[in-house]
Amino acid sequence: MDRSNRPSAIGVPTGKNLPQPTVTMRENLIEASLPTGESVTVHLFGATVTSWKLADGTEQLFLSEGAKLDGSKPIRGGVPVVFPVFGPPPKDHATSSLPQHGFARNSYWEFLGKSSSESLGRDKRDGGDAVKLDFGLSHGMLSEEFRRAWPYEFGLVYSVTLSKESLETSLQVQNKGGRAFEFQVLLHSYLRVDDISKIRIKNLQSKTYVDKTQNATTHTESSPALAITQETDRVYQALDPKVPIVVASDDDKPLFSITREALSDIVVWNPWIDKAKGMSDFAPDEAYKNMICVEAGSVAGWQTLDAGDAWEGGQTIRARL
Ligand code: BG6
Repeated sequence: MDRSNRPSAIGVPTGKNLPQPTVTMRENLIEASLPTGESVTVHLFGATVTSWKLADGTEQLFLSEGAKLDGSKPIRGGVPVVFPVFGPPPKDHATSSLPQHGFARNSYWEFLGKSSSESLGRDKRDGGDAVKLDFGLSHGMLSEEFRRAWPYEFGLVYSVTLSKESLETSLQVQNKGGRAFEFQVLLHSYLRVDDISKIRIKNLQSKTYVDKTQNATTHTESSPALAITQETDRVYQALDPKVPIVVASDDDKPLFSITREALSDIVVWNPWIDKAKGMSDFAPDEAYKNMICVEAGSVAGWQTLDAGDAWEGGQTIRARL
């Protein structure tokens, strides 16, 4: 049958002709932007997200002016990845010879590639409305010192997804060896704020927290909208990851919301005046007024990963809601 005159399908936009996200790599930086103007920058040292901008160019993350970007120490700001231990490692644990917050933020990761809207299963009609960047780290990529200090065969895949409305970061941990290991994980997000005295953190009320500024004593949060008025270093535990932690202005406008997958703890940290002055890579001294760390993690206990198993967790940060 001659089908040459058959009606052609009504055109469904495939996204092919629509503007697509761009991804560029220079030296150790991967930058991705959406056609609508949002952008993200990831440094291969630590796979640390160092910048996240909205379409109008406003920066959402805090990066210290004194941050070292040469691999000599973890990057002070953005979203460092804390793995496999949070804080100073316990003496009698397999992580005991590692530095504070582990090796992930102290190692060069590999850029594994990008995927954009179509392969991410998003609505094609929106064209390039999301881009995902994947980064990898494995035992063999660590320095000899770290390999010796934590001799487990592991694989990490860290995915950073930029969309118009959010930044999503998620980590997959694989146990590629023959024995189980224990780990903690934390996405140490430094959120940029105009004035620390004008923000409130919501949805922590009635939750139990360990206050690291008070000899790690345990307390219950009484405030429905926590104000930061001094050095703050608290580990809130056993939260429902689906309930967003909201950073709001003092007149109750939401500035950020953070939802999580498989990460049930939240660390709230601000170094305040003296600690900020004492950190060599924190500048200027008064910049503690322009940041709040709301860190999604699994840090109250340990995750055990059996040989051959994988675990995944992550966060989605929405800005200017
Ligand atoms: C927070 C910890 O997650 O990170 C704080 O709760 C710590 O105790 C802060 O001071 C910064 O850590 P570091 O190692 O980057 O100076």
